[in-house]
Amino acid sequence: MCGIVGYVGKQQGLDIALEALRRMEYRGYDSSGIAIIGDDGGIQSVKRAGQLANLVDKISETGRDHLVGHTAIGHTRWATHGRPTDENAHPHVSFDGKVAIVHNGIIENFAPLREELERDAIEMKSVTDSEVAAHLLARAYNDGETAGDFRASALAVLNRLEGAFTLLFTHADHPGEIIAARRSTPLIVGVGDGETFLGSDVAAFIEFTRDAVELGQDTVVVINSDGYELLNFDGSPAEGRPFTIDWDLAAAEKGGYDSFMIKEIHEQPAAVRDTLAGHFVDGRIRLDEDGLTDDDLRNLDKVYVVACGSAYHSGLLAKYAIEHWVRIPVEIEVASEFRYRDPILDKRTLVIAVSQSGETADTLEAVRHAKAQGARVLAVCNTNGAQIPRESDAVLYTHAGPEIGVASTKAFLAQVAANYIVGLALAQARGTKYPDEITDIWEDLETIPAKIEKLLSCDEKVAQIADTLGAIRTMLFLGRGVGFPVALEGALKLKELAYIHAEGFPAGELKHGPIALIEEDLPVVVIVPSPNGVKVLHSKIVSNIQEIRARGAKTIVIAEDGDTSVEPFANWLIRIPESSSIMQPLLATVPLQFLAADIARHCGNDDIDKPRNLAKSVTVE
Ligand code: F6R
Repeated sequence: MCGIVGYVGKQQGLDIALEALRRMEYRGYDSSGIAIIGDDGGIQSVKRAGQLANLVDKISETGRDHLVGHTAIGHTRWATHGRPTDENAHPHVSFDGKVAIVHNGIIENFAPLREELERDAIEMKSVTDSEVAAHLLARAYNDGETAGDFRASALAVLNRLEGAFTLLFTHADHPGEIIAARRSTPLIVGVGDGETFLGSDVAAFIEFTRDAVELGQDTVVVINSDGYELLNFDGSPAEGRPFTIDWDLAAAEKGGYDSFMIKEIHEQPAAVRDTLAGHFVDGRIRLDEDGLTDDDLRNLDKVYVVACGSAYHSGLLAKYAIEHWVRIPVEIEVASEFRYRDPILDKRTLVIAVSQSGETADTLEAVRHAKAQGARVLAVCNTNGAQIPRESDAVLYTHAGPEIGVASTKAFLAQVAANYIVGLALAQARGTKYPDEITDIWEDLETIPAKIEKLLSCDEKVAQIADTLGAIRTMLFLGRGVGFPVALEGALKLKELAYIHAEGFPAGELKHGPIALIEEDLPVVVIVPSPNGVKVLHSKIVSNIQEIRARGAKTIVIAEDGDTSVEPFANWLIRIPESSSIMQPLLATVPLQFLAADIARHCGNDDIDKPRNLAKSVTVE
């Protein structure tokens, strides 16, 4: 939620901030803004509701002459408190015009702080929780014990705030310096040559440096052009973890595609291949983890998967695979429900927390709850050093690379692959599969990237289907077995991108209610299981297709190459390569991603990377 950038260095702050916001716009795009601290002091701020393009237009109208300086902060917002208006956009400037701040997260005690400031006759210009931080800092700097001391004033303010926040503070009397802090929301330092960066993620500065520093919880960082200093909230020295960024710039750019999402769909073969790489060595699955030993895996008596959205759908597939391969009970739960339900957890429970961003607040809180109950936690995550892996006992990284499109595509397939690695590691440690069976499954898994590659050419066929579908009010997705999570994922993609009501059902549930929804011309997507898998599943879904066709639905059937049984009942047929049943979701999902993108465009939603009301990382509960 919200993208934040800070810069001090040799370049013009405006250029760096705008470029960083462009790269991080996927984190929130309700409004954006920047503040430039002139080299001789003086703060100039410009902000605008709506997408970043509105801010750029505003700057073009007013000119850049007043926005010159080598220190800058910037923000792209996903609104929590207050509507996305110009006033509520960040940066927020203090009553005396000397402090500018940007904030990501929620200041939970903002109401009493606001009342306190208002009693002091300080007038609020916005209805955000964030604005109080600017006024509190100005007041602390102007009067009392911390007067004239930027650092002491910032620490005093930070210690009064409750909730989750990344905050960047600037002060007109201290050009060339930014003081920032993080609690439960992300902040990374980028260390350049004569320039230092702050970003919600490395996309903010990847063009300029690969040297980054990850900050611990409740860490303050003071940056200037020569580098950075880390402090705890009490002012004592703190430590960070320096690391080298291994993404290249091209990975964060569109690379010739007209959207990140379409580019990311095409990157799926690599995402799955890279996620698998190095996890099967000398005939053995390697989880690559010190945090969980084979003994730990043997001692478990239950597995929980917690996640949200698409990651949750990947977790449903983990349940199918792990229960089938390992014969251990697996429960899967939406993270936001998990901790409030008092789940039964103990030291023999493994909780697998799946998260692309590693920042999702609901999943993070579920991890904390699980750990507090003594469970072991394994994170499956795409973002190096994010909070969820940091707080987990062990982590298995997916290697999908940066996912910028808000709707998850390649990260989802990489999560499915990673969940299968966990399943195989469990089967190996617990001896529920013989080594040659594990090798067979692994070899099967390794065939998937090439099959996805081949499947990508279904995009033209899918586009034709979207062209002929006409106006759609609602759409259903049906699957059985591992096709059910695929149906849920297909429906979620359509909802997110096309803003069309869509629902995924287990096809067997149809007769228990949803069949009442079927009417003339209603499009229904059916994911047909492999005819080489469980025979009864295949034949039952063929019957389901006939039932809905008989009631006037138009069927879009996803079926394996060579499966001719469905041809008579399909208005449109999309072929996917043959595979074993358990691997089919890694293929069947791909045409549904294209379908959602194409239908979205037909509905006039051209910016599929940034669906309305959404943000890439949901760092509030
Ligand atoms: C859907 C989507 C979301 C995320 C969910 C979890 O396309 O992207 O449903 O899957 O918000 O996010 P992470 O995986 O970052 O925890």
